[in-house]
Amino acid sequence: MNIENKKIILFGGTSGIGLSTTIMLSKMGAKKIYAISRNPEKSNLSYTNVELVKTDVLNENDLLAFFKKIGKYDVLINAATGGERAIGPFMNMDLVGYRNSFKKLWGYTNTVRLGLKQLNKNGCIVLVSGSPARKCKAGQIALASVGGAVEAFSRSLAAEIKPIRINIVSPGIIDTPMIQLEGKERDDFYRNVTKENLIPRPGKAEEVTQAIIFAIQNDFITGTTIDVDGGWLSS
Ligand SMILES: NC(=O)c1ccc[n+]([C@@H]2O[C@H](COP(=O)([O-])OP(=O)(O)OC[C@H]3O[C@@H](n4cnc5c(N)ncnc54)[C@H](OP(=O)(O)O)[C@@H]3O)[C@@H](O)[C@H]2O)c1
Repeated sequence: MNIENKKIILFGGTSGIGLSTTIMLSKMGAKKIYAISRNPEKSNLSYTNVELVKTDVLNENDLLAFFKKIGKYDVLINAATGGERAIGPFMNMDLVGYRNSFKKLWGYTNTVRLGLKQLNKNGCIVLVSGSPARKCKAGQIALASVGGAVEAFSRSLAAEIKPIRINIVSPGIIDTPMIQLEGKERDDFYRNVTKENLIPRPGKAEEVTQAIIFAIQNDFITGTTIDVDGGWLSS
C-alpha cells in the first residue's frame, strides 16, 4: 500500500513509538492521521495532516462515536499501552495488577472490533506486541501473557478478515516515555536491561516505526510478526 493520500487511525499516536509513527506517516504524505490518546495535547504535534483526538481505547461508546464520525479509512494502528503494567514474579503479584495489564489487549480488541467495518477492503491493521510474548525474562510474566494473547489474536483474525491484512510489530526494549526514569538512573536502567541482547542498547522509537511502515506498505504479508528487538529472541 502506498501511504500517500491514505486516511490513517493511530491509537497511542501521541507518545513514544506511536508518536514517531504519526510523524513519519505525516512526512510520507498521508492524507490524514488521527493521533488518538487520553491526553493527546501533551504531544505538541502540529502537522496539517494530523488531527489530535482525545479518546480512551477502553471506552466503547467514545470509540463508536469516533468511527461513525470519520467514516471509511485505510489503516488502523494500535500502539496504546492501555494502562498500567504489572512487573515481577507471578506468585508475588497483585492479581488486580496482573488483570489490569490486559487493558492493552482489551484496547486492541475494542478498536479492531468497533473499527473494522469502516476499514477499506484493501486496508490493513498493525498492532504492537513485545518480545516477552515469545521469550520471557524473569519478572515479565504479565507482559508475556498479554503479548502472547495479542499475537494469537492477530494470527487468528487474519483468516477471518481477509483481504484486509493484520500484522504485529514486536519491539524489544525501546527508549520511550513509557519508562519515566531520568538522567543516570535511566541510562543505567537501559544498560542493564539490554546488556544480554545481541545489540546491547535500547532501540529507538523510529526503528520500530520503520517496521510499522513496512507492515503497511508490503501487500504480501498478513498474520505475521515483525521483530525489532536488538537480537533479544536470539540472545
Ligand atoms: N517501549 C518499550 O520498551 C516497549 C517494549 C515492548 C513493547 N512495547 C509496546 O509498544 C507500544 C507503545 O509503547 P511506547 O513505549 O511507545 O509507550 P508510551 O510512550 O507510553 O506511549 C503509549 C501511548 O498509549 C497511549 N495510551 C495509553 N493508554 C491509553 C488508553 N487507555 N487509551 C488511549 N490511549 C492510551 C498514551 O497516551 P495517553 O497517556 O495520552 O493516553 C501514549 O500515546 C505499547 O503497546 C507497548 O506495550 C513497548
